[in-house]
Amino acid sequence: MAKILHIWSLSKTFPGQVALQDATFDVEEGEVHALVGQNGSGKSTLIKVLAGFHQPDPGHNVTMNDEVFDIGSVEAAHAAGIRFVHQDLGLVEAVSAVENLALGFGYKTGFGKRIHWKQETKRAKQALLDLGFDIDVRVPVAFLGGAARTGVAIARALQESDRNISILILDEPTANLPGADVDRLFDAVRRLKARGIAVVFVSHHLEEVFEIADRVTVLRDAKVVATVETKELEMSSLIELIVGHKVTAATINRSIDQSLAPRLSVQNLIGPGMDNVSIDVRPGEVLGVAGLTGSGRDTLIPLLSGAMDRIGDVYIDGVAIPAGSPSAAIAAGLAFVPADRLRNGIISMMSVRSNVTLANVKRNAKASRLNHKKEKAEVNDWIGRLSVVTTGSEAPISTLSGGNQQKVMMSRSFRLDPKVLLLDEPTQGVDIGAKEEIHTFVDSAAATGSAVIVASTDSGELARLCDRVIVMYRGQIIETITRGEGSMLEKIDQVLLAGSSLAQK
Ligand SMILES: Nc1ncnc2c1ncn2[C@@H]1O[C@H](COP(=O)(O)OP(=O)(O)OP(=O)(O)O)[C@@H](O)[C@H]1O
Ligand SMILES: [Mg+2]
Repeated sequence: MAKILHIWSLSKTFPGQVALQDATFDVEEGEVHALVGQNGSGKSTLIKVLAGFHQPDPGHNVTMNDEVFDIGSVEAAHAAGIRFVHQDLGLVEAVSAVENLALGFGYKTGFGKRIHWKQETKRAKQALLDLGFDIDVRVPVAFLGGAARTGVAIARALQESDRNISILILDEPTANLPGADVDRLFDAVRRLKARGIAVVFVSHHLEEVFEIADRVTVLRDAKVVATVETKELEMSSLIELIVGHKVTAATINRSIDQSLAPRLSVQNLIGPGMDNVSIDVRPGEVLGVAGLTGSGRDTLIPLLSGAMDRIGDVYIDGVAIPAGSPSAAIAAGLAFVPADRLRNGIISMMSVRSNVTLANVKRNAKASRLNHKKEKAEVNDWIGRLSVVTTGSEAPISTLSGGNQQKVMMSRSFRLDPKVLLLDEPTQGVDIGAKEEIHTFVDSAAATGSAVIVASTDSGELARLCDRVIVMYRGQIIETITRGEGSMLEKIDQVLLAGSSLAQK
């Protein structure tokens, strides 16, 4: 197939950090091309330089359709027919798809400058239908599902049929999507491919790469290490290319003393998506929560952490935890990591150090005086343990890559040595190496006697981590799967599949 975009020797240096070094990358007409690599390896940087968001270092050579393409400006990328959807989608959530599309395009106005709403609505409806989304384009996009929202962002990026759009670039489009939504999004990607538009996408979910990509480019430590056709590639070699060495997942080998009193006891929990649920978790036990979005899987941890109002009792070592107060819960020995960490936890003006120590600054203080040296040493220790890519503890957290910001958030909770640790989607957006590091950390939290709950849409993750997995459906536990009864992964997926066919009835 004809190569349309060609990049040679593209580099980008930030103060104190080379984010992209001598990268070579190309895109063929109508292909699906995955871009993978560990957190901080340079994927978003490559995209942002192409988009004109960052200026590249001098010395590069880029062509589009054999003509020199002067990258580094938004206009140049636009004129070259390349479109982008960044991870946050950039939609205005409070208004409809019609308005979101119109905002990006400029309203079509006629005589007397009136907006032709009928025409705009028809146009938006058709653009989304072309992508396979038969949705109500007049409701606020906040009410749409994840895939449909991404669809709106894609439709917005692709409008202007008078221009020749040949490449669409998506940065982690599936990071926050449950499985069924990923399928819908990939359906849209296949439709684009059929229209001759090449799609470049970033993902940490490697099974997606094999499912949909024709080729994959791997970045490691700011360098492109390979571009390979996926049909010539095995999962294990892809992982090795990404990490630079072989990765073996640990197998857990612990036994829970069922005669111990529960460390965490939840009784008759009622709240959004939760219909009278009781759960006990013993010291050293890791309990998984599976289920579709809206089943209760996604609200259990917000309810227990106090982020959402609840009815029902929660006890840690027999002591009642008041409802609706995250700070009382923390004081009682509960720590939690919320799901949408980039929106719900990062304080972007502060340094890596402050973001880590925020929930307990006192640890490194004596008589109200902060021991800066001790605090820095502690933060540096966490940076090392979770392999956070950063120039140091004083770097503003906003300069870290998305996945590395997540790791900083994790260490904020991990360092509290909690009696109860609640993790919501702990490895979303996190690379395969860091995923294993986080899993190992969960193992060690359990080994020291914490009771852990992990809610996750990733069945493989639950099978790797948990002693017991509950599957939720319409606010209730419909199945409990215990380690040692055959393949946990298969069982979880079976129950989930049964649940999703029920949901469609
Ligand atoms: N604005 C910035 N200022 C300073 N350094 C930056 C900036 N943006 C990115 N970096 C650094 O460049 C490196 C590459 O970051 P990039 O965002 O490209 O990673 P990524 O591969 O997209 O990772 P992730 O999978 O976590 O999203 C990181 O080490 C990051 O700290
Ligand atoms: Mg990124």
